[in-house]
Amino acid sequence: MEVENHKSLKDYNTFGIDAYAKKFVSIASEKELKTLLSSERKTPIFILGGGSNMLLRNNIEAFVWHINIKGIEILSENDQEVWVEAKAGENWHEFVLYCLQNNYGGVENLSLIPGNVGTAPIQNIGAYGVELKDVFTSCKAIEIDSQEEKEFNLKDCKFGYRDSIFKNEAKGKYIITSVVFKLTKNHHQLHTSYGAIQQQLLTNGVENPTIRDVSEAVIEIRQSKLPNPKELGNSGSFFKNPIITAEKFQEFRLQFPEAPFYEVSPTEFKIPAGWLIEKAGFKGKRYGDAGVHKNQALVLVNYGNATGEEIWELALTIQREVKKLFGIYIEPEVNVI
Ligand code: EPU
Repeated sequence: MEVENHKSLKDYNTFGIDAYAKKFVSIASEKELKTLLSSERKTPIFILGGGSNMLLRNNIEAFVWHINIKGIEILSENDQEVWVEAKAGENWHEFVLYCLQNNYGGVENLSLIPGNVGTAPIQNIGAYGVELKDVFTSCKAIEIDSQEEKEFNLKDCKFGYRDSIFKNEAKGKYIITSVVFKLTKNHHQLHTSYGAIQQQLLTNGVENPTIRDVSEAVIEIRQSKLPNPKELGNSGSFFKNPIITAEKFQEFRLQFPEAPFYEVSPTEFKIPAGWLIEKAGFKGKRYGDAGVHKNQALVLVNYGNATGEEIWELALTIQREVKKLFGIYIEPEVNVI
């Protein structure tokens, strides 16, 4: 394990922010992790996964531990299902590709999401009608204080919309080391009802889609709307889609009958933040090197040399304007550090 001082994190966060870690180490195994945990008991640490869901406003004074533990293993299987364990440092999309190559169904709608397997449960990643919780059975994590390994099952994780126990009561207390997924080997349950997927399958001339066809459709949709972080720094959706009460929704609907919405429950409605931001006039706008993506207003982008603070200023301006125009508060989805 090589410990580096004053290390630039530019290549370790998908926003491409040039913030520095005072001390940095990349950890390749559970053994290395345990060794560090026992030797650095008192050191403040910062756990870094794929860096795809954070905005670095400042340099990091804590000791940055980059979790780079790799490996994918089949735990058990029967005729219909397979339980696969993937280590935390596996790249998410590469894990999806592994599943597609082996004809394991369940994660195809989650194709091309940036980030790593180990950070996927923290915010219960989701796209096109599927969330991580739909294929998750458990994860292993090491408790930082006690250094003991703990297993969290589906119920323990308290998954919600872009939410889990790891963003709440367990926040900062555990390091996830691996995740177990339950996937299908045949009779895959395809989720194609999300409007854009059906349309894309139609465009591709696919009548009886396989999991690969669904994955390809998702990839095409994402590529048409979401910037590739390797070409244009970004962190996916910057804000969560706000959920408002039925009462508030009635008012909103009268004023903006054209706005898209999803009914979450009879008392709650979700409004796409991207629509609100576009309507507020920010789509495609650029302020120095910070900007709002031209094809998806929910995505803030770094044109090259924006600082975390500049992106954050833009986020606050958008948040203020949306609140002023619609009376709706939009909450960041990314971790602001
Ligand atoms: N819309 C606009 N203008 C925009 C963007 C969106 O009017 O600039 C409208 C669209 O026309 C559509 C609605 O808003 O009617 C929803 O848009 P879209 O289907 O693109 O999804 P989203 O709500 O913007 C969410 C997730 C994405 C995920 C997609 C697809 C959140 C915060 N975001 O976005 O997740 O890929 O659905 O399932 O829930 C991410 O979390 O990083 C992410 C990209």
